[in-house]
Amino acid sequence: MTTEPALPDAASPHAEDPADASLPDETSDPRHFRSPVSFVRRGSRLQGRRQQAWDELSDRFVIDVPRAEADTSVDPGYVFDAAAEFGRTAPLVVEIGSGLGEAVTHAAEQNPDKNYLAVEVYLPGLAQTLQRIGQKELTNVRVVQANAPEVLTTMLPAGSVDEVWVFFPDPWHKTRHHKRRMVKDEFAELVARVLVPGGIWRLATDWSDYAVQMREVLDASAGFVNLHHGEQAGEDSPLTRVNREGLEKKAPMDDVDTRGGWAPRFEGRTLTSFENKAHQAGRLIFDLTYRKA
Ligand SMILES: C[S@@+](CC[C@H](N)C(=O)[O-])C[C@H]1O[C@@H](n2cnc3c(N)ncnc32)[C@H](O)[C@@H]1O
Repeated sequence: MTTEPALPDAASPHAEDPADASLPDETSDPRHFRSPVSFVRRGSRLQGRRQQAWDELSDRFVIDVPRAEADTSVDPGYVFDAAAEFGRTAPLVVEIGSGLGEAVTHAAEQNPDKNYLAVEVYLPGLAQTLQRIGQKELTNVRVVQANAPEVLTTMLPAGSVDEVWVFFPDPWHKTRHHKRRMVKDEFAELVARVLVPGGIWRLATDWSDYAVQMREVLDASAGFVNLHHGEQAGEDSPLTRVNREGLEKKAPMDDVDTRGGWAPRFEGRTLTSFENKAHQAGRLIFDLTYRKA
């Protein structure tokens, strides 16, 4: 039996940040139109079942994107035609940074009436997603190897997406690397652009200071309304627990989180290996759910 390698540690929010040791503070990738990017280039070698899944299924399920310069870039002239790609019109859910495809394929299996687009830069992750698509015999998932901001800026038509998911994005722990975090003001504008009016943005992270950043960014955005405004505040807040119980080394703010705004765990999100590792390490999960205003 062939053993499939997991995502390398560099992809894990539980390891040091990707390529941390070798990353200059101001690194940007000149091949991408928007920088600095939220990822580092990692191995793209496929083997075993992942290679087999790619060979057998990529023609059908991988969106063939014309590139600008980098192999994860998107030609700004290219526009995704969901009806043509899926062969039907249905609500579209886009998962950004879909990793190994656990969440997106689980949801697609549970909701055959919806279309799912998995956006990921890491080729072995996409191949693993294809493997799951094959195993579950799904027809309602497409995958694209592309830098998410470019997908949101030009590839997806404005007002074409019902839900956007960002689950456990790379945390980029060091302050000097925070600019690489995906969820920031400009990114929120891009998500607002692609969502239908009333569309939903779901986020989850296991790092409290990134959770606070997400809440800051989205609360400050005129484009979004927190569906759980003020909920899980004070003693009920996971942030209060993290601070009080010292569950992470660095406390992001005062002891008691009087603001709250945390969503209940999204029941449509299956327990991925990333989330499971967070539980095992004793970290708490922060869910946020916003509606496009
Ligand atoms: C920590 S992993 C989480 C994966 C998955 N969401 C989960 O919960 O299992 C973050 C993923 O985001 C991907 N990623 C980071 N920046 C990206 C970008 N700009 N565009 C697309 N994918 C990106 C990484 O390659 C990585 O697989």
